[in-house]
Amino acid sequence: MTRLPAITPAPAVRLAAQFDAFHTARARSTLVARLYATAMGDDYPHEVAASSSCDWPLLGLLAARLRLRPGQVLADAGCGTGGVGLWLARALAARLEGFDVSPVAVAQATARSGRFVPAGRAAFRVASLDDIGLPDRSVHGAVCVDAFALAADRAAAVRELGRILAPGARLVLTRALRRGAAPVWEEQARAAGLVVEHVDERPAEPAMWARLYRLWIDHADELRRELGDDQAQNMLHEAHRMLPALPGRRAVLLTLRRPLTEPEAPEAADTMTRPASAGDGPATSERTPQ
Ligand SMILES: C[S@@+](CC[C@H](N)C(=O)[O-])C[C@H]1O[C@@H](n2cnc3c(N)ncnc32)[C@H](O)[C@@H]1O
Repeated sequence: MTRLPAITPAPAVRLAAQFDAFHTARARSTLVARLYATAMGDDYPHEVAASSSCDWPLLGLLAARLRLRPGQVLADAGCGTGGVGLWLARALAARLEGFDVSPVAVAQATARSGRFVPAGRAAFRVASLDDIGLPDRSVHGAVCVDAFALAADRAAAVRELGRILAPGARLVLTRALRRGAAPVWEEQARAAGLVVEHVDERPAEPAMWARLYRLWIDHADELRRELGDDQAQNMLHEAHRMLPALPGRRAVLLTLRRPLTEPEAPEAADTMTRPASAGDGPATSERTPQ
């Protein structure tokens, strides 16, 4: 799911309640995951079980754009149930700080953590894109998959995400806009003290959503039975609302970088410790050999 239906930027509490209800309903049934798998086919990363457009090509691109080193800190903004950040943390031997506005999502992400990384290498918290609660310059990379569009103030969200990036660190996020529309990300990046390093086109993304939305519509009765009327209705509303816009949609993966302003900054970024978190062990004992 890229966003809940009819959600224009809403107060965090209401947004959290809506996503709590979605994540609770989704956890009761395998139907949503099965429909994602059908829509993505061979590109579906089953283990990640994202509620987003996250497929194998995206995972590969995220890993490549982040340029993380073992032991560095990765933030997953709007992490949902944590699959994207956990998969990346394991693959890159990173430490993970995930956050989401939904307490239900955070609880589910926390519960999944041990399947991906050793205890103490991932922490999840309830926080929002406009108030992350991590210290300035405290992460070496950040991802945000299909959550950024839900920020009440996107320019403020870029500034807040930029605030937590160490010098040289990158924020890699999915964005979408109408084809032909002038992007605002250069301006938003500049205002946050960041530079646009890459814009990777994701030409297959709109067609994936089209397949998924049609599957939701075709399985409307099953969705109602397995998720309940309210959630099914939300999803169907989203499907009907989004389908007509998909042919004109341009989806990208944007990489923003905080410049290395000081000569010693690369070393500083490499050796920076993550924000203190309960249960942290020595970095070396927690690295996975992937
Ligand atoms: C479409 S889901 C994507 C989840 C995850 N990134 C993934 O790929 O599976 C969007 C997530 O963003 C969260 N979210 C929405 N608005 C947010 C905000 N302002 N701050 C933090 N999280 C938010 C929702 O609770 C939801 O879990």
